Amino acid sequence: MSRRPGIPSRRFGEGGGGLFSSSKSKSSPILSIGLLIVGGLFLVAYMYKGSGGFGGLDSVSRVEGGDYLCSGEVQQAIPILQQAYGDSMHKVLHVGPDACYVVSKLLKQDETEAWGLEPYDIEDADSNCKALIRRGSVRVADIKFPLPYRPKSFSLVIVSDALDYLSPRYLNKTLPDLARVSADGIVIFTGIPSNNQKAKVADVSKFGRAAKMRSSSWWTKYFAQNNLEENEATSKKFGQASTKSSYVPKCQIFHLKSLH
Ligand SMILES: *[C@@H]1O[C@H](CO)[C@@H](O)[C@H](O)[C@H]1NC(C)=O
Repeated sequence: MSRRPGIPSRRFGEGGGGLFSSSKSKSSPILSIGLLIVGGLFLVAYMYKGSGGFGGLDSVSRVEGGDYLCSGEVQQAIPILQQAYGDSMHKVLHVGPDACYVVSKLLKQDETEAWGLEPYDIEDADSNCKALIRRGSVRVADIKFPLPYRPKSFSLVIVSDALDYLSPRYLNKTLPDLARVSADGIVIFTGIPSNNQKAKVADVSKFGRAAKMRSSSWWTKYFAQNNLEENEATSKKFGQASTKSSYVPKCQIFHLKSLH
């Protein structure tokens, strides 16, 4: 499967339009009709793409392409999270890039309500994502500022990728705030330092700051300094469920208790 199925046809569509208009005056009628049909097909393909017709394909390839490694990882980990958290999965907030895809996946689970907080502008929202935003299920908000939710609004908060872009100064505000809006815990997916070379270079322009992948010991120390306790019971359950399903995470996953 190509990574961005829509782009080649869109480019051709634009080129085709130019060709069509310049050849109109001197070409034979048959050629003109042929070009008209081809142009029409490109137009239909373009509109289909614009309407989100390829949205499903795009979401899959985008995640596999590794734009946001850990948000893709969350989608894979949902069945494992469900085994570890059980009833605490009934009201979930996902914070991170690709929130629309994660929320859509969570909403497919039985008895799970889900909301999303997307920390960056969504440049290419498909129709499904636009509908989620219109409904208020997904919001776009800068997580450096207080989160727009009341205390304990969610049973579980799942964060992916987003924290890698925050300096300790902002982490000091954002992490306790995540703990504030969750009732039963926070699950944090962060990048692994050694996997990080590509992300560092590619993401600076997009997010304004290079992702800084921190080691497991850095995070553990950081949580301790900020009085955030690791949730050992769910960590253990998550580990056991992972082993049973032969699931090997490509990101670091931390399970923290809520602050109450
Ligand atoms: C973050 O909070 C911890 C614990 O309160 C403190 O020791 C540390 O200096 C803070 N870091 C920054 C950059 O404000």
